[in-house]
Amino acid sequence: VSDLELSSVERSRASVVRLMVPTDANFSGNVFGGSILSEIDRVAYVTASRHARRRTVTASIDRVDFIAPVHVGDVVDFDACLTWVGTTSMEVWVRVSAEETLGGTPQLVVEAFVTMVAVGDDGRPARVPPLEPASDDERRRFEEGRARAEQRRRSRRRPEVRNDAV
Ligand SMILES: CC(C)(COP(=O)(O)OP(=O)(O)OC[C@H]1O[C@@H](n2cnc3c(N)ncnc32)[C@H](O)[C@@H]1OP(=O)(O)O)[C@@H](O)C(=O)NCCC(=O)NCCS
Repeated sequence: VSDLELSSVERSRASVVRLMVPTDANFSGNVFGGSILSEIDRVAYVTASRHARRRTVTASIDRVDFIAPVHVGDVVDFDACLTWVGTTSMEVWVRVSAEETLGGTPQLVVEAFVTMVAVGDDGRPARVPPLEPASDDERRRFEEGRARAEQRRRSRRRPEVRNDAV
């Protein structure tokens, strides 16, 4: 079986459930944004590495909007799945929802698109299996992911050339 065989969105889906505890809190008693970002990065790593069947690194995280605060005591779900796959990069869609009362309705609090790149033993980008979207929604998300990847490529910051004479 080739490592680069077509692979489904379901195969690499990952989720984490975390109870927010006082060490996750900021000075106001709500959950520290960095604590949420860290978990987003981890679950994105699991999804991307499952798909790539090798180690991956975070290349970028798109704008992250915190739609609602998360509180200590909330049960927070982090759900990750692939939307789009390029040659060595993958876009992971992470949705974070919080349940204030156990058994209550979870509220979406954060959504993020994380680009992960597969790397070989030399640390250089390595090819990943192509993604096979299986439904109309997955096909639509794939096309949207492709457009975002293209947009990122266009807007990527070029290293600045210092010109001390100016
Ligand atoms: C991510 C990394 C491997 C890319 O290496 P590179 O030499 O710039 O690679 P390339 O320009 O050949 O790009 C490789 C792929 O990554 C994508 N990519 C590179 N930089 C990117 C960025 N900032 N955002 C999104 N995608 C990016 C490219 O579009 C390309 O995708 P494709 O193969 O699917 O077409 C390299 O920049 C790196 O190692 N960065 C540090 C990652 C890290 O340590 N993260 C944790 C921080 S603590």
